[in-house]
Amino acid sequence: MMSSEEVRSSFLEFFREKGHTIVPSAPVIPHGDPTLLFTNAGMNQFKDVFLGTGTRPYTRAADTQKCIRVSGKHNDLEEVGYDTYHHTFFEMLGNWSFGDYYKEEAIAYAWELLVDRWKLPVERLHATVFRTDDEAYQIWLRYLPPERIHRFDEKDNFWEMGDTGPCGPSTEIHFDRTPDLSGAALVNAGTPDVIEIWNLVFIQFNRLPDGTLQPLQKKHVDTGMGLERIVAILQDKWSNYDTDLFQPLIRALEELSGRPYPADPEQLLHPDGVAMRVIADHVRALSFAIADGALPGNEGRGYVLRRILRRAARYARNLGFHTPVIYQLVPVLVDKMGDVFPELREQQSTIERTIRSEEEMFLATLDRGIAHFETVVAQLEKEGKKVIPGEAAFLLYDTFGFPLDLTQLMARERGLSVDTERFEQLMEEQRERSRQARKVEQVEVITPQDTAESEFIGYETLEGESRIVWVEDNKVALAATPFYAEAGGQVADTGTLEIEGERYRVKDVQRVGDLIVHFVDRPVTASAGARVLAKVDARRRQEIRTHHSATHILHEALRRVLGSHVKQAGSLVAPDHLRFDFSHYEKLTPEQLREIEEIINEKIRENIEVYTEVMPLEKAQKIPNVKMFFGDKYGDIVRVVFIDEKFSVELCGGTHVERTPEIGLVKIVEESSVAAGVRRVVAVSSEAAEAYVRQLEDQLKQAAERERDLMEKIRKLEKQLENFKVESMKRQLEEVTTQSQPVNGIRVVTRIFEDATVDQLKQLADFFRTTVKKQGIVLLATIRKDKVQLVCAVTDDLRERLPAGTLVREVARQLGGGGGGQSHMATAGGRDVARLPAVLEAFSALVQSKLETPASS
Ligand code: SER
Repeated sequence: MMSSEEVRSSFLEFFREKGHTIVPSAPVIPHGDPTLLFTNAGMNQFKDVFLGTGTRPYTRAADTQKCIRVSGKHNDLEEVGYDTYHHTFFEMLGNWSFGDYYKEEAIAYAWELLVDRWKLPVERLHATVFRTDDEAYQIWLRYLPPERIHRFDEKDNFWEMGDTGPCGPSTEIHFDRTPDLSGAALVNAGTPDVIEIWNLVFIQFNRLPDGTLQPLQKKHVDTGMGLERIVAILQDKWSNYDTDLFQPLIRALEELSGRPYPADPEQLLHPDGVAMRVIADHVRALSFAIADGALPGNEGRGYVLRRILRRAARYARNLGFHTPVIYQLVPVLVDKMGDVFPELREQQSTIERTIRSEEEMFLATLDRGIAHFETVVAQLEKEGKKVIPGEAAFLLYDTFGFPLDLTQLMARERGLSVDTERFEQLMEEQRERSRQARKVEQVEVITPQDTAESEFIGYETLEGESRIVWVEDNKVALAATPFYAEAGGQVADTGTLEIEGERYRVKDVQRVGDLIVHFVDRPVTASAGARVLAKVDARRRQEIRTHHSATHILHEALRRVLGSHVKQAGSLVAPDHLRFDFSHYEKLTPEQLREIEEIINEKIRENIEVYTEVMPLEKAQKIPNVKMFFGDKYGDIVRVVFIDEKFSVELCGGTHVERTPEIGLVKIVEESSVAAGVRRVVAVSSEAAEAYVRQLEDQLKQAAERERDLMEKIRKLEKQLENFKVESMKRQLEEVTTQSQPVNGIRVVTRIFEDATVDQLKQLADFFRTTVKKQGIVLLATIRKDKVQLVCAVTDDLRERLPAGTLVREVARQLGGGGGGQSHMATAGGRDVARLPAVLEAFSALVQSKLETPASS
């Protein structure tokens, strides 16, 4: 039995032998085709060749193409999970002829591969042709009996890429799995028993936006065969999910959920089976899309991904999962497909983190959403109704993040439908409300009535003479102005306007329609036509320029260090700092921040010229690695800022430095989170960076000073503590002294002070001598580092009869040590800690014996 890897490579090998160039799969995110959200067919990357606007160095090609069919003309999302052979993501094996061979060879190749090489049973093959395509019909008669060649109309046998673009009649090969070969009536009937395996399209038209078909200059062949289906057939599996392409994912789900996958065809609609198929399918679409640079979001492509993910998350809930699980399948998928598609392996951690954080976000509201849904359903049941009101669907969307199609899916499961018309109406109302909110803000600011225009001359000059073209209160617009109006994150310039001998301070500048409006410090007395001398605050502008160029360099440095998923989510360029928000899923490490800073400052030192070029949008889009923002609307003519064309190329209307060293130094001063999956970096350049470094220096000095003061205080406190300790020990010593019973008139006092120093013991001994004055002997001990330290002292009257040195030496000997000293006070040490209490206990007796035998030493 061939593995999926072998099927894939034997397909490519077959067409290599037939003179085809094997090309890599295009990314699943089409770059540069606004008519497509996702690559939906192998031919997408050759669209220009078919239309005659592009060429390739070959006329025959083959590949395996990553496809996603979840939107637009080809959308299989709803089927996925409920049958055995639809997918949101799949691989399409394809071969192409660009004006080279046509119907005859295309059919012959397909036949040879399926029948001669892969040994599919001929009696199970059917062909379909477009209803008027007699040529294809005749060719098929060479291979198949007429009862297994079927004619179908546009719906089944005329393939189109989208609403517009290359298209043409097709012929398809179907495989009959019925045990008794009764499949003729089941062709194109939507059953897994007879399944389409290969579509050969004869591309010969371009569908224009008005719907007409424009014949192409050349005729082409475009074929597509779903890898998952052909693998199922070659592995003799009833379901694509039973093949080695999906089994690892299904196994992992069984393990994680502790539930068996119901594989029996009789159990096709078992909820656990549906859920496992949905999740196994969706994790593939999500992973491949993210690997190619897409991210879940609120609009367009991003929202399609979010819908897929939320659909999968709801099914995961049905399987009993209450914590993120989809992301745990990513390593399984990478293991299976990472060799063929290395981008999966390269982006693995981004994929996992992205999916996980999306799951977490949705799980926060999923339960409450489901509960709300149940309340709505219960209410409907009570009222005997079958349609979920648009209001309920809208609430689920707006409050709980349920995409409409998820609500519809849950409704279908309960035999209900959703009032989508009312839903759309409510969506539109919400959009209108936010449009109004935005408008009100602007309208309140200004309402210029005439058709005047302002020209921006601030790229070239910071000072210029012009005339007022519009004025109202403290708002003035000039025919030409060097003042930059706030845009693209860059703050507005400030400066002065001199009008008829009066000098006005410009506080803010905004673009309103075609006007650049200056907001000045007081009402302007002059009227339209008056001469004006406009002067931008040059120093401030220079600081803004350094921060703007620094922002571009930072953006590229972030991408290089963190990965190509980094996309700008917002930015602020001010004279004293820059703020840059971007998509990324975790906190930046200190090492990453350092590396980013290093790249930036290295670029600055390279002394690169920063230059701009104005060009048609179409040309700009073709520049490799150009940065432009999907959310932004660009005109036909755009301005492109280059900082070394291999490093940073960005569509931007802002003002920049001329050479990078003007930026001076860049320091990142803050890194934080703004929202799920969006991080923020704040940085400073030029003078602001210098000020920042100086401020750090001051702080350091202050810190050092504070540390010195602190050390001083600590020393004082330590001293106090020490005194306090000695005082307290004195009190204790006093107490034992008064309690001690004099023997032969002599007070013999012993005491262990744990944790005392020899020095402290000496102080205590002195204290004893001065307070007791006569007839007193003290022996003090402490234990330090498993050794005994002893201090012995006697009052002056006993110095001769009982010298302290002799006493302490004697005691120390009993503890395995030695020592000595003067007659009034002496110290010693010993090792035998355990014997200390007994030795102290016996000290009194020792003194006694000394008194009786005065000669001993
Ligand atoms: N473009 C056709 C399809 O997608 C054949 O590759 O089915």
